[in-house]
Amino acid sequence: MGIARGRHSKTDKKHVARQEPFPLTHVAIIMDGNRRWADLRGLPRLAGHRQGVKTLKELVKYVGRHGLKYLTVYAFSSENWNRSSEEVDYLIGLFAEVVRDELEELHGSKVRLSFIGDLSTLPANLQQAFRQASQRTRDNQGLSLQVAINYGARSEITEAVRRIAADVKQGRLSESEISAELVGSYLYTKDIPDPDLLIRTGGEMRLSNYLLWQSAYAELYVTPVLWPDFSPAEFERALCEFALRERRFGGD
Ligand code: IPE
Ligand code: IPE
Ligand code: MG
Repeated sequence: MGIARGRHSKTDKKHVARQEPFPLTHVAIIMDGNRRWADLRGLPRLAGHRQGVKTLKELVKYVGRHGLKYLTVYAFSSENWNRSSEEVDYLIGLFAEVVRDELEELHGSKVRLSFIGDLSTLPANLQQAFRQASQRTRDNQGLSLQVAINYGARSEITEAVRRIAADVKQGRLSESEISAELVGSYLYTKDIPDPDLLIRTGGEMRLSNYLLWQSAYAELYVTPVLWPDFSPAEFERALCEFALRERRFGGD
């Protein structure tokens, strides 16, 4: 641990000096490992989530300052309701608190904030806070930050299929117009390009129902680093790995 820390802090310094633009447009992240981070320190597990928010804040600052266009983060999946009510309540409260406390600073740094997922089942005050935050920042030209909350890719796609079927039935769309592009335009991410890079912290080699459609050709990067420890230097490490990948999109 001590050795790894030393190495990281050096890298941290080195990477603060980034001068080149990022070599990609859209990064998606599965921010996993908050509770393990807390367990390792003998802290209450909820403290891991709070630390995770700090990590996100730092990363958003870092990537925004260096001109990344799109960042989409997984904050709460449609399956995360299966956790204890104590944890779920804490997370819902935390989202409300973060939006309230961070909105003006995000707005000041020209971040455009939006929320993807089935927001309709969230508490009314949280829905209202999300709407206000999206409205307030909608014209910002800096980083576009999508936060996935109560998000599940299968229900996103299922819902898209249902709406496409309804549009065909009512004559607004013909069957021959249904293409991959059209399906994409019925998803939460309709206005943004597909992710180039999908990062998962916490070491699990799975997608956990995240951006299944959009990640068809995303490069995958899994790191054992737990989310609360994921520094800008770790982000740079992921980008170095990305730069070595050869993206073929099925060609030669
Ligand atoms: C990710 O960390 C945050 C959420 C899913 C809300 P976890 O809470 O899944 O932490 P681990 O993976 O159990 O350590
Ligand atoms: C994925 O993490 C969801 C988020 C990071 C919000 P989980 O911890 O819920 O995923 P599983 O249960 O390990 O697949
Ligand atoms: Mg987890």
